[in-house]
Amino acid sequence: MRQSYDLFSGAVAIVKEPDLAKKTELALNLSHDWFHRKVAKGRYDEEALPQNPGRPEKPALLPPGKMPKRNLNSEKGRRAHIHALAHIELGAVDLTWDLIARSCGTNLPRTYFDNWVQVGMEEAKHFRLLDQRLKDLSLQYGDFPAHDGLWQSCAETAHDLLARLAIIPLVLEARGLDITPPMIDKTKALEDFATAKILETIYNDEKRHVAFGAKWFRYMCDCEGKRPAETFQQLVRKHFRGTLKPPFNDKARSAAGLTPQFYKPIASIIG
Ligand SMILES: [Fe+2]
Ligand SMILES: [Fe+2]
Repeated sequence: MRQSYDLFSGAVAIVKEPDLAKKTELALNLSHDWFHRKVAKGRYDEEALPQNPGRPEKPALLPPGKMPKRNLNSEKGRRAHIHALAHIELGAVDLTWDLIARSCGTNLPRTYFDNWVQVGMEEAKHFRLLDQRLKDLSLQYGDFPAHDGLWQSCAETAHDLLARLAIIPLVLEARGLDITPPMIDKTKALEDFATAKILETIYNDEKRHVAFGAKWFRYMCDCEGKRPAETFQQLVRKHFRGTLKPPFNDKARSAAGLTPQFYKPIASIIG
């Protein structure tokens, strides 16, 4: 019998698990159990939080600047691109379940946890879809190098949930809304319809992830008496080292509740 199985310990176990088939299975099982009310939130234990995610030996992790350039017009480049997408989704699995674990120490409402557990489940599905696509191409996750930037770039927001929400859903996932539609078009133009279909699934889910981010960012700002757009700008300036690059998918961002007043004032300042 499992000793203690609850949302907190389950989320920590997902992040720490190095076997990716097991990691994603744990995520799908915990989501199922959460939505069927078989698990409680559990006892928050700061000491138990993961410092780093569990990962397999491969791929080799390189600093973002050391990654080989990809050319989508070559077969190898296209395969490396699918691998890079799988790596991003794997990062999203760890970051989402880490967010859930860190949120267990709060009194945020049940729907907050429902929303992020759904995101954590969908990120696991996204990784599995791309991992399967790699297998269909006689490849496996680990065959190409990957960058180690995502977890590191979020490490400094580990103890600030509002900053985490600003950076992960409202900067990084919102960026996905900007770049995925043209990526789908390009993938279709290259007649890789199987990958394009996966990207369409991911895009549709990610719109919801950004919407959850915007909803809970606004909620937390409201609880703390902060103005959402200005607070977002302060947190991005402080914690995000990249750039907010146009063109923005204003329509999809706004539909998710991330209106231009949040990001436009800092788009040309950062970088
Ligand atoms: Fe995703
Ligand atoms: Fe996502």
